[in-house]
Amino acid sequence: MDHFLYRDGILHAEDVPLSEIARTVGTPAYVYSAATLLRHFRLFDEALAWGPHLVCYAVKAASNVAILKLLGDAGAGMDVVSEGEYRRARAAGIPPDRIVFSGVGKTAAEMRHVLREGVRQINLESEPEMRLLSRVASELGVEVPVTVRVNPDVDARTHEKIATGKSDNKFGIPISRARAVYAEIATLPGLRVIGIDVHIGSQLTDLEPFRLAYRKVADLTEVLRADGHAIERLDLGGGLGIPYARSNLAPPVPLEYGRVIREEVGHLGCEIEIEPGRLIAGNAGILLTETIFVKHGEGRDFLIVDAAMNDLIRPAMYGAHHDIVPVIEPAPGADQQAFDIVGPICETGDTFAKARHMPPVAPGDLIAFRSAGAYGAVMASEYNSRPLVPEVLVQGDQYAVIRPRPTFDEMISRDMVPHWLE
Ligand code: LLP
Repeated sequence: MDHFLYRDGILHAEDVPLSEIARTVGTPAYVYSAATLLRHFRLFDEALAWGPHLVCYAVKAASNVAILKLLGDAGAGMDVVSEGEYRRARAAGIPPDRIVFSGVGKTAAEMRHVLREGVRQINLESEPEMRLLSRVASELGVEVPVTVRVNPDVDARTHEKIATGKSDNKFGIPISRARAVYAEIATLPGLRVIGIDVHIGSQLTDLEPFRLAYRKVADLTEVLRADGHAIERLDLGGGLGIPYARSNLAPPVPLEYGRVIREEVGHLGCEIEIEPGRLIAGNAGILLTETIFVKHGEGRDFLIVDAAMNDLIRPAMYGAHHDIVPVIEPAPGADQQAFDIVGPICETGDTFAKARHMPPVAPGDLIAFRSAGAYGAVMASEYNSRPLVPEVLVQGDQYAVIRPRPTFDEMISRDMVPHWLE
């Protein structure tokens, strides 16, 4: 459920008409609903209420500091994968003991920064990484709680570019090597084993792969405990999917996911961490855009809108579906027409949807791409020298720009011409 609904014939974000945001902020623009973000965070929090837990929002999904602050104030922890994300979480006031540092290629500089400021735990992904972290922690004279991300070799049954839990993916250590790796960590200074980490992929619409992975983690917990390791915390990753198309069957909800977690690992007495990103932010954001032209081609009609693949890359990159709706509510039973919905970028891949049925649309009409809150703004670029798309947060009847659209001057003045060309 989200808070983007038609009211008085106009699509609203909570109590604010999107037409008003388009007028004051311009298009394209990302618009987030605070109520939806909070609701989704709380669904996870409640789904794990049966035991000690921390929901660590995956910052990569939508990393604006205002969003992090909103979730952090509600009690969320943060899962970060770079120094940049760590700094964003800190800028949002998240205490270090609620920040988990994940990621497959952490540098010594990043480790140093995070260890100096403090961190809840570092999720290790390889043997070279654990040796480096041991060196960095020892140099700083600190001991850091760590987990090892195990790769359970489970098929997440999702898009190949976002599956991470098969043995041919670059993530984690093979679960078969876990005992040896934990044994080595126990000998390394500066590291203190606290638990196990697993994340098998994103946009999972079926609970079975989670169940299989968590069962393997439960078995491993017993084995590692028998080896003498203190396994007190299980980080079970993110990945629960969202409904991208209204017409599709809805994926399982957090409550059912929480039940699977309880069934598979609840008996171990561990603190549970999860790292959801998409389910919290995805349906809490839309990309607002305006139609520039309606172009009649041979055998197809194109809606050319002012958003492009640089603003929302998911359709071009993953062939992802986003529901696309007019901001002015179509009359019931209005005629539908098939359009290819495209952006202005000079690539055929700059196509959001092909032969999508839409009510009649005219130049100047506003359109919303739904489910764009996660992996939308964060993956935007300035390709074709289009300034980064702005972000707006709505809460009730209030709204605020949380990242302004850069001016052309701001964009261009970052470039520097070397002295010999002047
Ligand atoms: N934890 C780790 C270690 C991850 O790698 C990810 C996502 C998450 C948590 C959060 O997963 P979520 O709950 O959001 O599914 N750009 C792609 C998605 C990439 C996901 C990367 N890792 C997309 O637009 O579909």
